[in-house]
Amino acid sequence: MEKKRAQWGSKLGFILAAAGSAVGLGNIWKFPGRAFEGGGGAFLLIYLLIVIFLGVPLMMTELSIGRASQANIVGAFHKLGHKGFAWVGWIGVLGAFVITCYYSHVGGWVLRYVFGYLTEAPAIYAEPLGYFYSMLGANADGTTAIPWVALLFAAIFMALNAVIIIRGVESGVERFNKVGMPALFLLLLILLVRAVTLPGSEEGLRYMLSIDWSKVSFQTVLSALGQAFYSLSIGMAILITYGSYLSKQENISKNSFIICGMDTLVAVIAGFIVVPAVFATLGRDQVGKGGGFAFVSLARMFQQMPGGRVFAVLFYLLLLFAALTSCISLVESIVAFLTERFSWKRKGATIGVCTVMFLIGCLYTCSQAAIPLKGIWIDAANGVTYPAFCDFMEYFTDRLMIPICALGCCIFVGWVWKPESAIAEIERCGVRFRFAGIYRVLVKYVAPLAIMTILVMSLATGTTLS
Ligand code: PFF
Repeated sequence: MEKKRAQWGSKLGFILAAAGSAVGLGNIWKFPGRAFEGGGGAFLLIYLLIVIFLGVPLMMTELSIGRASQANIVGAFHKLGHKGFAWVGWIGVLGAFVITCYYSHVGGWVLRYVFGYLTEAPAIYAEPLGYFYSMLGANADGTTAIPWVALLFAAIFMALNAVIIIRGVESGVERFNKVGMPALFLLLLILLVRAVTLPGSEEGLRYMLSIDWSKVSFQTVLSALGQAFYSLSIGMAILITYGSYLSKQENISKNSFIICGMDTLVAVIAGFIVVPAVFATLGRDQVGKGGGFAFVSLARMFQQMPGGRVFAVLFYLLLLFAALTSCISLVESIVAFLTERFSWKRKGATIGVCTVMFLIGCLYTCSQAAIPLKGIWIDAANGVTYPAFCDFMEYFTDRLMIPICALGCCIFVGWVWKPESAIAEIERCGVRFRFAGIYRVLVKYVAPLAIMTILVMSLATGTTLS
């Protein structure tokens, strides 16, 4: 007899879990820097249009494939009778696997910083760059050691994920997100109040609200497009898995708007925290993005800020919740695939796959400190650049797998399974889908064209997606 498929316990539980997947490191440390580079308000406008016209329909597409098939990301295409498209699911599983390898390690570094600020803030303040790299195994004399501290915290972070996943969809994933997401919103609001009340923050606020078209180029649009996909967790087929746990009574279109809205709200608020706070403390030329920015520049910023230590703990806690809820969605998709495809037990599959991903991720963490030896991690102008191995993992997922998987989903729904089937699934809750006409055009033509453009341009120009 076929086992009864897991389901979300409540509507709110599903929304928070999907928003938890979407809201991640990408929102907090990448979005503000991209918005700054893209001319503040102008970037925000472009980003909003992309979320509405591409993000929401793609989210609906993935959720409806998942709910209609009631299967994992590879099984979904088999169940819908189109085995030939199973490759889309395979790319999704593989992509989720590669992202988790490094995402979980960065989550570990974040956890290290929460503890670091609680127990040894003066050491971080004294030398933010040195502290960051010594966590990653770089010695002051330029030699490197095994970064035990970072690896230990990454192991703890991965173990937290595993414990939550083993507990199951409703009592693990859903329950954690029900606590984690409200906590994240609360932290965000506290930090927002701190940032906008800092003397000198008005200039940053003004920058984020003013529309400077002179900073906008085709690259800006590409950057917003890539950011939106990564941020909404689109193109890793994660939402196929989450959609497969969704009851037939749920309204997919309304929920997609809510989830995209929540993710975008968090990103925009993060922009309104980070940009004004950096303007007020370090100066406008210091706004950046990525790991070096989050761990080094922001550490310098907290040093300058009244009450900096408390706000630093809150900020890294915010990052921790964001990273954990996203990582859970990645692991859940992989585990759902392994348990359904190979009939593995949930506990064994989780422990096995988490161990393997942790071990591969060790290369990522270790490769960070190997670079100072070669003397290339300090980029004279901007601080920090990433070593080759990390570049490769991010390149592989952001530039290739996410767009290819998203393109596969669009082509599948637009041309093979047909938009009518997705629309029927969306309307299964009994409410008419008012945007069916525009959805059909978006999924058949606009989204595939836009994705092909990112794919070609990012390969040709070297722009990273996330
Ligand atoms: N959306 C997450 C972020 O913004 O950090 C990252 C992510 C999670 C990407 C899950 C892809 C994914 F499938």
